[in-house]
Amino acid sequence: MEKILNWGLLSTAKINRALIPPLRASKRTRLLGVASRNQSSADAYAREWNIPRAYGSYEAMLADPEIDVIYNPLPNHLHAEWTIKVLQAGKHVLCEKPMVLTLAEADQIIAATQETGKVVAEAFMYRHHPQTLKVKELIDSGAIGEMQLIKGAFTFTLKREGNFRWVREYGGGSLWDVGCYPISFARMLVGVEPAEVFGWQVTGPEGSDDSFFGQMRFGNGVHMQFDCGFTSTPRSFIEIVGTAGSMQVPNAFKPGRKSEFKIIRGDEIETIKIKGQELYLGEVEDMCNAILNQQPPRISLSDSRNNIAAILGLYKSAQEGNPINLS
Ligand SMILES: NC(=O)c1ccc[n+]([C@@H]2O[C@H](COP(=O)([O-])OP(=O)(O)OC[C@H]3O[C@@H](n4cnc5c(N)ncnc54)[C@H](OP(=O)(O)O)[C@@H]3O)[C@@H](O)[C@H]2O)c1
Repeated sequence: MEKILNWGLLSTAKINRALIPPLRASKRTRLLGVASRNQSSADAYAREWNIPRAYGSYEAMLADPEIDVIYNPLPNHLHAEWTIKVLQAGKHVLCEKPMVLTLAEADQIIAATQETGKVVAEAFMYRHHPQTLKVKELIDSGAIGEMQLIKGAFTFTLKREGNFRWVREYGGGSLWDVGCYPISFARMLVGVEPAEVFGWQVTGPEGSDDSFFGQMRFGNGVHMQFDCGFTSTPRSFIEIVGTAGSMQVPNAFKPGRKSEFKIIRGDEIETIKIKGQELYLGEVEDMCNAILNQQPPRISLSDSRNNIAAILGLYKSAQEGNPINLS
């Protein structure tokens, strides 16, 4: 019988609730523990979600030899530090996006995986969804001719006062939080890295970007334009323009069990219907495949590193007021 992987949640983060159902649905995983910075909050969370073990410190969960995989949903500035600590404790990590905030941190994680032989993958859940896979397949097969332009947006109204997303030092800002999605989607479709980026930001009182407007020029001639932000109405689309048609993906980053997108060629509109799966199941199964079947994770560490490089280039551009050459 295949081994069951015991998972632990590193903190009582709000996003845990998206991971708990797939961790229970997968035949290869068991949700064994939750850690918090104090015992009472770990106990309360474990009771609420019916999790067998509650640890009053993150270190305590790392020291449990029965935990195999840790989900890291800490505020962004703690992703690298704790991912490396988990690897050094001999466990695998599914780390929330953005995986790190600097290229040096990305390199430290890559080195730590090489030293420990453990798996790290960035939790871009949409990358595993059948809709994303179908979009990529159709683009690669020439369904809209030669790709020329990608447009995208991910915006919502952030109402959580005091949340780390507002604070620059904690890896706050809309580009880190949601702009990372259209950037990742475009890089995945194009298949080469951006050669040049240019961006503008609107900063809030804590110094982080409440909105960001960016452009990327890829080395093969494809262009990309996107916006992201915390202060506008929810939008999360991708549009892809090619020489023979365009593709509109209205719910690009959080598709559900049923979703659809359109291919437009002149007056003809083709609707592609997708029978999806629970959005977060794909990243859990991908981790299981990587750990139990030695398959490379769908999102490699160099892919994650390149997404961070694009984001850092965009921030630099917004600060300096110039395009930034990344090639
Ligand atoms: N993939 C997705 O769909 C998705 C969606 C939402 C968020 N995310 C990502 O998930 C991560 C967490 O987001 P979230 O909104 O769930 O976070 P959150 O609710 O703000 O929770 C973060 C948790 O980190 C712990 N923590 C440790 N040090 C902290 C500090 N200095 N300040 C605040 N909290 C601290 C706290 O848990 P304890 O008190 O229990 O220790 C806290 O509950 C982020 O990286 C975000 O980008 C991903």
